[in-house]
Parts: sequence; C-alpha cells; structure tokens
Amino acid sequence: MQYPDYRPRRLRRNENLRSMIRETTLSPADFIYPLFLVGGTGVKKEIPSMPGQYNLSVDKAVELAEEAYELGIPSVILFAIPEAKDSVGSEAWNDKGIVQTAIRAIKRQIPKMVVIADSCFCEYTDHGHCGVITKGELDNDASLENLQRATLSYAKAGVDIVAPSGMLDGFVGATREALDGQAYDQVAIMAYSAKYASAYYGPFRDAADCAPQDGDRRGYQMDPANAREALREVTLDIAEGADIVMVKPALAYLDIIQSIASEIDLPIAAYNVSGEYAMVKAAALNGWADYDRVMMENLLAMKRAGSDMMLTYHALDAARLLSR
Ligand code: PBG
Ligand code: ZN
Repeated sequence: MQYPDYRPRRLRRNENLRSMIRETTLSPADFIYPLFLVGGTGVKKEIPSMPGQYNLSVDKAVELAEEAYELGIPSVILFAIPEAKDSVGSEAWNDKGIVQTAIRAIKRQIPKMVVIADSCFCEYTDHGHCGVITKGELDNDASLENLQRATLSYAKAGVDIVAPSGMLDGFVGATREALDGQAYDQVAIMAYSAKYASAYYGPFRDAADCAPQDGDRRGYQMDPANAREALREVTLDIAEGADIVMVKPALAYLDIIQSIASEIDLPIAAYNVSGEYAMVKAAALNGWADYDRVMMENLLAMKRAGSDMMLTYHALDAARLLSR
C-alpha cells in the first residue's frame, strides 16, 4: 500500500491512537538505581558533576532506596568510597566494609529490594586501577583471586546479584566458581560484558574517587571502535555463567545493544552512565534542553534498542514522571 491509499498519519492523530500502536514503553521496573556510599552517618552530599546525585552514608542510602522502592524501582546497585585504600584494594573484601554494611541494612529494611553489588577494585586501590598491578600492568589472574574474595563477602552479606565490572578475562567464571563453591548458587551475575574505555565515565570517577593515578583503562576496557568484539565478550561471559549481560555506556553504543539483542537470548542491561546523565543535567540547568523529555527519550531509545533494564541516575526522576 502506498500514499494516498495508505496514510501513516491516520494513527497519529491523538494520544489514544498513538498509545495503541506504541511499540516500546517504559516502566519503573526497568530501572536500577546506583548509590554511592561513604562512611559515617547522616551524610548526603551532592556530587558536583552529577547534580541530584549524592554521596550517602548507609543510613541515608537506605532512605533513598526506600524512596526508590516506593516508586516501583525494584533494584539498586551499590558503589562505595572506602575510608582506606591500599595497593590491592583489600577493603573490598572486608566483611564489615561499607558495601557489605549497606547490603545488610537495605535487605533488613526492604527485604524484597534486589540489591546488586558492583564488584571491582578501582575505588579500593590507591593507584585507582581495577585490580592488582604487576610490572605496570593489571595482573589479571591475581586480580581474579581478589575478585572471588570480594564476591564471597558480598554474598555473605546477602546480596542478590553481583556485577563484576573490571573487564578482567575470566571474571564471570571466577565469580560463578566462588559463589557455587560456597553454596551461593542462587546469587546471580550481571556481567559488565561490553564495557568500553569511555570518556563518559568522568563524573563517576569524581563521585567514586576512582580515576587511575597513572595511565588509563584501555588495557582492559574495550576500544570504542569495536562492535564484533562486543559479541565475543558477551559470548565468553555467557559461557562462564552470566545471567544478565551489560553494555556500557548506553547512548553512544545503541548499535551494540541492538546487535547483542538480536544474537543473544539472555536479559540485557544498559548502563546509562554518569557522563550521559551529566550532559542532560547541564543542558537542562542552562535552560538549553527540556530535562524530562530528553531523559525519557534517551531511556526509551535504550529500551527500543533492545535492553531489558537500564542502570540510570535518572531512575527516581523518570519513575516519578511515569507514576503521574
Ligand atoms: C568501576 C566502574 C566505573 C563505572 C561503573 N563501575 C568507572 C570506570 O570503569 O572507570 C562507571 C559508571 C558511570 O560512569 O556512571 N569499574
Ligand atoms: Zn574498576
């Protein structure tokens, strides 16, 4: 059928017609809200490069998690800025660490909330790299042993999902092995499978105090020029036991999300990262963009590309809009 017999505008004439043919919808259940934890109590300090996001002590993080849960957001992912850093990041597997304490506190207060722990070392090492450094390079296999320690510590605290984010080779298999070896076979793995070496992580590195002191992360995170490699990474992670695979960042990588969605039958997560959030916020605060509409359009694009869930700093704002 062709114009003038077929007129696509017929079904665009009003909101009810449009809603009937809408292919993609957003729901608060699609969102995972990231929380940045710090020590102390009563701390809620705004992150300068991420207006509306905070460094939170555990008590304040629980309050915000409750607010998110009441808005229909089922899940939070936890990051921490530890009080002490060392060369291997040993605070990451301290059973009394900030993330472990927060896992216990959130599960106590909101038992049904799905709590995810990002498992990496860059926030915990004094050099800011995602593991142990040997002869100037990230030592893959030594870092995996520590990853297993941290994983088990989160599992003991009652985490629902662990999300290894360091882009180490074998990190999903090592995580699964550690969990199953201690009868934590119900703890799921969200793998940061296709994580690119991106400049969009800038604000996060301020928030989590985890910028590398020397060099960059191009020796372990993916080259933004590569698409086929993302499928290889995803395939490896699935073989190693990933339950959910992630693409990160989201907006400049929608092609990657789409190609994974067409090839893979596992749930896909997109990480709508700090720099993506900061750009929208900055434009909105300058009066150059309509915050609500740009935010929803971006989130919709991630879902339309094929992601089942989005890790996003917009979670509360978007959920509030959706509940109106
Ligand atoms: C740590 C980690 C990073 C992010 C999530 N986990 C930073 C990095 O790899 O440098 C980025 C999140 C964001 O920018 O919102 N491995
Ligand atoms: Zn890291």
